Amino acid sequence: MNPAKVRVAVFPVAGLGTRFLPATKAMPKEMLPVVDRPLIQYAVDEAKEAGIEHFVFITGRNKGVIEDHFDRQFELEETLKKRNKTAALNELQADLPVAGQTSFTRQQEPLGLGHAVWCARDLVGNEPFALLLPDMLFKSSPGVLKQMIAAYEKTGKNVIAVEEMATDALSSYGVVGRGDGPDSMFEITRMVEKPAPGDAPSNLIISGRYILQPEIFDLIGRQSKGAGGEIQITDAMQKLMQKQGFTGVKYQGRSFDCGSKVGFLTANIVFALDRKDISRDFLTELQNAAINAKQ
Ligand code: UTP
Repeated sequence: MNPAKVRVAVFPVAGLGTRFLPATKAMPKEMLPVVDRPLIQYAVDEAKEAGIEHFVFITGRNKGVIEDHFDRQFELEETLKKRNKTAALNELQADLPVAGQTSFTRQQEPLGLGHAVWCARDLVGNEPFALLLPDMLFKSSPGVLKQMIAAYEKTGKNVIAVEEMATDALSSYGVVGRGDGPDSMFEITRMVEKPAPGDAPSNLIISGRYILQPEIFDLIGRQSKGAGGEIQITDAMQKLMQKQGFTGVKYQGRSFDCGSKVGFLTANIVFALDRKDISRDFLTELQNAAINAKQ
């Protein structure tokens, strides 16, 4: 039996981005650029590569620019045409979802990631869906969601991408217990949000990509506030685990937590060094800056 296709992806973008103030006072964190593409564009590209057909954005106040980003900009297109900037024009058009492929709904208050996901319940309906946190950026080929879809097609279960983390940092993350199976597809036995030192079931953390069955919505709806006074997705997943299986995928690739300043700056360096058009000049500047940097 083939499991139902994962057609829809949910992108929660309603958070306040307090770790990036003042940059995020009027501009969404998800629009911060890594080199010249906003974080949300990388997440949408990853979803497209994995075969996603509909993109649901959970937005909030000050987030309207995300909707504009995925719309056509006729004045800009005309100007690029007149100036024969064909490459830039083609790139803009390639980045656009097809008309009708996007939906936007508002999380009126940032009550937590779980609550943001719950806001997508009517738009997703009764089918499995992908959940991508756009501030987690990955350098991987194939993309992380595509690696997860491969596992989903074999198991038909809920799927979570995981990565290794240093033991002393585990208490800041959701940590999973590892059962049988290879890195590409193993059984998850437990899930603990922000475990106390010594209580972590492994060194594998949940890294911002999920494939979830629609039964999660009902569980989130009945969920009270958890860590940080927010409605947490991990709490609802723990409840779902009592009824359904979860598969872990230790993905191939590297992650950058672009919700943190160091992660975001590192992502910019790594992605810039990988760009043929600027890497040489940038490396020279970077080496000079490193030599002159005072510790
Ligand atoms: P984060 O916790 O990293 O984002 O949530 P944040 O709360 O905006 O950031 P800080 O900690 O204040 O700096 C991960 C993703 O979930 C979304 C965020 O927009 C981000 O993309 N999110 C978070 C929501 O959509 N709603 C929420 O209530 C919380």
